Amino acid sequence: MININENPIGIFDSGVGGLTVVKEVINVLPKENIIYFGDTARVPYGSKSKELVYKFSCQIIKFLKEKNVKSIIIACNTVSSNCYEDLKKQFNDIPIIEVLQPGVKSAIQVTKNGKIGVIGTEATIRSGQYEKKLKEALKDAQVYSKSCPLFVPLAEEGFLDDKITLDVATKYLKDLKDYNIDSLILGCTHYPLLKNTIKKVLGDNVNIVDPAFETALKMKKYLLDNNMYNTNGGDHNFYVSDKNDKFDFICSLILKQNYIAKKVSIENY
Ligand code: DGL
Repeated sequence: MININENPIGIFDSGVGGLTVVKEVINVLPKENIIYFGDTARVPYGSKSKELVYKFSCQIIKFLKEKNVKSIIIACNTVSSNCYEDLKKQFNDIPIIEVLQPGVKSAIQVTKNGKIGVIGTEATIRSGQYEKKLKEALKDAQVYSKSCPLFVPLAEEGFLDDKITLDVATKYLKDLKDYNIDSLILGCTHYPLLKNTIKKVLGDNVNIVDPAFETALKMKKYLLDNNMYNTNGGDHNFYVSDKNDKFDFICSLILKQNYIAKKVSIENY
């Protein structure tokens, strides 16, 4: 008999960023099977229109459904902030979890002065969703948002601790430093890869909030509450829309294990 609990969790992003979420999902749910899709042919999403990002996300979800995933994590803030409600409506037969709400929850747990910074892609910041949800959760929150478009290509290139990344971060984060924020949400799943550099710029007094851990906990709770928890797996498979060595390299760097991603013609979905 097929046990649906053994079906994988599908996780996707535009490229390597969502692997920072995969890492936490593996920590929190070590016996779950995982299928990851990184849209390496079409990264970045953050500078694209909502319509295009929605179309790409639909194709990816169709692919993941073909792989019989039992649930999906949108490991991408750009998709989460721009398309989550529409995707939930379109694919209402499968549970889908996004990353914004977990980020908001973590930030309001750690902030003391209510001054919260949010960095993300242009599309995420433009959506205003973080600001809206933070103010819903903490009425007096003062939210300072800043898009950091060069962070994604730097992360995809593997320039994680390089001087060029430090220079870019210093320029982008200057205003947030001046606002005296005590917490900063990494509102793009690529950004935890640059965490050391971001910390170097902001100093020790700013809490860096990565929504990934809380997202993984949310998925765990969902699976437990719905009797969909797997105690018998642990297979991880990776797919990309364009094959390059960098994906496999960064994947092994993050997950501390070697994986070889397979190529999918995602435009056929
Ligand atoms: N990592 C994604 C995010 O969280 C997408 C970044 C991009 O492709 O621009 O927004």
